[in-house]
Amino acid sequence: MPVLPQHLLTCPVCTLALQDVGRALACERGHRFDAARQGYVNLLTGRGSPFEGDTAGMVEAREAFLGSGHYAPLRESVVAAALRGAEAPAIALDAGAGTGYYLEGLAAAVPGLFPVALDVSKIALRRAARRLPGGLCIVWDVWRPLPVADASVDVLLNVFAPRNAGEFVRVLAPGGRLVVVTPRPGHLAGLEEVGPLLSVPAQKADDVLASFEGALVETGRDDLDYTMTLPPDLARSALVMGPAARHHGAEGATPSPGPAAPLEVAARFTVQVLARPGATARRDGVPEDPEDGTEG
Ligand SMILES: C[S@@+](CC[C@H](N)C(=O)[O-])C[C@H]1O[C@@H](n2cnc3c(N)ncnc32)[C@H](O)[C@@H]1O
Ligand SMILES: [Zn+2]
Repeated sequence: MPVLPQHLLTCPVCTLALQDVGRALACERGHRFDAARQGYVNLLTGRGSPFEGDTAGMVEAREAFLGSGHYAPLRESVVAAALRGAEAPAIALDAGAGTGYYLEGLAAAVPGLFPVALDVSKIALRRAARRLPGGLCIVWDVWRPLPVADASVDVLLNVFAPRNAGEFVRVLAPGGRLVVVTPRPGHLAGLEEVGPLLSVPAQKADDVLASFEGALVETGRDDLDYTMTLPPDLARSALVMGPAARHHGAEGATPSPGPAAPLEVAARFTVQVLARPGATARRDGVPEDPEDGTEG
């Protein structure tokens, strides 16, 4: 495992600092979490999490889609938002990191960055571990207190994934920033031919901001719109990788004949940056929408 910054991770059992003890993380009280052969560490104790996370089919579709480069403009925007006007971050945490695509982009732009990917899906983290050889991939449920020390994270990413506002505020360093990506209405328009889409509320970015009210302020908001020309296989991947497939049962279902020709599909995102106004206000984490694994 790469060198773990001291005092970054906390033991999920006793909250003492976790140390890297060679292919495992352990605290002084002897709680020990072995790294899986596939490169991630599972810190979930007891019964694990009630949240399922992305399935093998969704992860495979996401990797195929991200590998095609159609979300590369979004990754560039996320990296730019994370770095604009700030000192180079030392520690970045992605909550709901999936396969680590966005964190990989940030790590490539910041030599020496220590990236930490959190996700409840082991299958996604297997892929993330390959993308992030210089970091750590941790199986965790973001609705639980994060196994991360107070004020320790310089950049916190949250891309189409659930947000635990109270915990995000707690772990963010005083000068740190949170970058949130949400879809806007019309995102993935053009895919209806492949399968039903979930509707996206218009005010999603405002809801994000409201959920951090009194703790973080918005320091940047950019809308990113472009059109993707997707061949039939990628059109299907774009649908299967997102929550629409789970809601409508399309994931794992017999493929519909689908389109024969490439489809013109809309990409419509908001990239928000939030930061502390200066004071270290805290909120308790209340799931605004526990299902929110949003439309990425
Ligand atoms: C739409 S995907 C986005 C993944 C990644 N951010 C990306 O855009 O490529 C949502 C991710 O959140 C994860 N997730 C869902 N519920 C979670 C939870 N309670 N705790 C941690 N991760 C969760 C899923 O496993 C999935 O990887
Ligand atoms: Zn412990």
